[in-house]
Amino acid sequence: MQARFVPALDRGGIAADVCAANMMGGGERMDMSDRPKANAKRLHVITWGCQMNVYDSGRMADVLAPLGYAPVDAPDDADMVILNTCHIRDRAAEKVFSELGRLRVMKQVREAAGNKMVLAVAGCVAQAEGAEIIARAPYVDIVLGPQTYHKLPEMVARAARAGGAVIDTDFPAEDKFDHLPDAAAAQGMTAFLTIQEGCDKFCSFCVVPYTRGAESSRPAAAVLAEARRLVAQGTREITLLGQNVNAWHGTGPDGAPASLGQLVRWLAEIPGLWRIRYTTSHPRDMDAALIAAHAEVPELMPYLHLPVQSGSDRILAAMNRKHTAAEYLALVDRLRAARPDLALSSDFIVGHPGETEADFQATMELVRKVRFAQAFSFKYSPRPGTPAAGAPMQVPEAEKDRRLQELQAELRLQQAEFNQSLEGQVVKVLFTNPGRRAGQIGGRTPWLQPVHAIGPESLIGQEVLVRIVTGHPNSLTGTLIEEVAPA
Ligand code: 5AD
Ligand code: SF4
Repeated sequence: MQARFVPALDRGGIAADVCAANMMGGGERMDMSDRPKANAKRLHVITWGCQMNVYDSGRMADVLAPLGYAPVDAPDDADMVILNTCHIRDRAAEKVFSELGRLRVMKQVREAAGNKMVLAVAGCVAQAEGAEIIARAPYVDIVLGPQTYHKLPEMVARAARAGGAVIDTDFPAEDKFDHLPDAAAAQGMTAFLTIQEGCDKFCSFCVVPYTRGAESSRPAAAVLAEARRLVAQGTREITLLGQNVNAWHGTGPDGAPASLGQLVRWLAEIPGLWRIRYTTSHPRDMDAALIAAHAEVPELMPYLHLPVQSGSDRILAAMNRKHTAAEYLALVDRLRAARPDLALSSDFIVGHPGETEADFQATMELVRKVRFAQAFSFKYSPRPGTPAAGAPMQVPEAEKDRRLQELQAELRLQQAEFNQSLEGQVVKVLFTNPGRRAGQIGGRTPWLQPVHAIGPESLIGQEVLVRIVTGHPNSLTGTLIEEVAPA
């Protein structure tokens, strides 16, 4: 299961641009680091895709910092530009090539002035189409897949020496996390922490098992050490990331096997860590320990992104999802029994090859039964090399459009209903940023809705009780009740 997609972000030198579906809200800012010093080399990273890519972009900046690279906001004057790409849905490669065309001009301008611009393409498009990138854009200096970021410094040096592109899209035997420096830049109040990568599920439509490789977990000790460092730097909320995050497994100090439920309990013991989230999960990996953690660990937020993709057993089988609609519904019941206020989110694909109107209506029925607090829905788009791309009975585009509109109308309704259900309630909001309007501050509910309230900026970084006044389609407004002393 992929991590969630993020919208256009501008994060002080790390810009991300993608898709409307998001769990982070638009336009959030995160300071990557100090402004570059006068003699520092300038690094600009453009990030597409999921939070795992955002996290990876931060780690690439970390690994390049010892070489004197510091993040800058724009590519024009950068000594190095990294495109951290995403291959999950349509036209990913085209977007990369059009961005490369723009950067080529900047690179030429810099070269004419006697300066260099190292151009690197990283991420899943690099993994899937490395050779094509070099063929179509020979001015690219470095192509590196998601598993080789720790080799960036060496690749930069080789590119400087060699002239000609340096490519590394291996799935090396060593773990890149063992070779990356400790995450250096403070991530702010809310931070991501990758604990798992890759996928062995091979859903019919999905490129992730091919671009991100086999499922692997970071050791518990490394995860806990990084979490402690983040909290020491001021982080109060950590979102654990993985393409299949709930497939995480490791061992405890006593050598006993542990799953994500146990890891969450260990994390919850870190003083100062108030909120824990994880994304993205596969229904088959929701084990009893994780469900129990939802019931028993107050720091684990009552929100779960649990993609179902379809409500038709026929299509779920064609998708190789290895669960039925009834199994998904039963799982939702167990989760809600454990944590009655759990808000659910999901991913849906309409128009998978072979999907009939009856199959689509089964999806609509599942949606009406579950009632989602938010969801992300996509038209099926063939990804070269995946089984569904070559399958017969592709659904016509116009039909996909119609189904997507019908589904999204229902999902919008459910989201609005959820937001309105909070009106009048008093909820704990973690304030993280100034609001858009003067005097406002912004934060998130435990169920991840953005909240705006009139309040002093001194409350940023605190959890505060807020009475929700209005549930809007995509956010909430409220009034402060009282200040809550940090735990
Ligand atoms: N076409 C459409 N949507 C896709 N997704 C993944 N691959 C495809 C594809 N080929 C969606 C799935 C996944 C989300 C991150 O992207 O719903 O859960
Ligand atoms: Fe998720 Fe399936 Fe893709 Fe794996 S193959 S990342 S489970 S959608």
